[in-house]
Amino acid sequence: MNFRNILLKAKEGKYAIPQFNINNLEWAKYILEECEKEKSPVFLGVSTGAAKYMGGYNTVVSLVKGLIKDLNISIPVMIHLDHASTKEDCIKAIDAGFDSIMIDASSLSLNDNISLTNEVKNYSKNQLIEAELGKIGGTEDGLTSDIYYTNTNEAVTFVSETNIDMLAPALGSVHGIYKGEPNINFDVMREISTKTNLPLVLHGGSGLSTEILKNAIACGIVKINFNTELQIAWHKSVIDFINNNKEAYDPRKVISAGEKSLKKVVSEYISILGSKNKG
Ligand code: 13P
Repeated sequence: MNFRNILLKAKEGKYAIPQFNINNLEWAKYILEECEKEKSPVFLGVSTGAAKYMGGYNTVVSLVKGLIKDLNISIPVMIHLDHASTKEDCIKAIDAGFDSIMIDASSLSLNDNISLTNEVKNYSKNQLIEAELGKIGGTEDGLTSDIYYTNTNEAVTFVSETNIDMLAPALGSVHGIYKGEPNINFDVMREISTKTNLPLVLHGGSGLSTEILKNAIACGIVKINFNTELQIAWHKSVIDFINNNKEAYDPRKVISAGEKSLKKVVSEYISILGSKNKG
């Protein structure tokens, strides 16, 4: 399995690979099962907060690798660190066996972002490296931030001075729930894709229409991240279950009440992104 080739094939074939974020054992299991059913390659996104919640980076890797083995998962799976802002977190994830790392130094100046990204790239072995330029706004891991749009010239400088595999530009998508209509700058997206010739990543995929997601893929987006929509679908089903089964106390029954709706969201996004049967 060479994920660099998988990304390049997706870029050529004008489809995108989904990143679904995981929070616990069940989420990893449901996402792996559904992606296997659809034969879609997948990035399992793990935020630093989610890694901490699950016990740590080693636990995440053991858990996912165990599931891949026990469930006979044959599709390409990348265990991906999502939005790590420190080198320490990246090192811990790399040492634990993550396949892909997002160093998010987007709150730093251009030069400092380049330096920190290069430090992580130099430490990495064969991991894919994703970096962010500009600032993707919205709410993630309980933290809210404003959006700062990515500038094409800075993106070209950034890419020529780092040896990254994927770039996440900030072009109007946000993490969490959209307030008002999303307004994505597709012209700059296409320009950055053409001038950098690098696979681009769209964060904040939840809540974007099919048309927006497909336009983004046409403009050079190769990986699209989803977290919030899975959480909302899962939560709604679990609330319904609890309301109708007040005496149910087995956690397996409560948590798995959200399995079907979570899997439905996963398969819908795979269908929109066009990654079915590409694994
Ligand atoms: P959503 O909050 O839109 O699901 O975005 C997730 C994401 O981009 C993770 O990096």
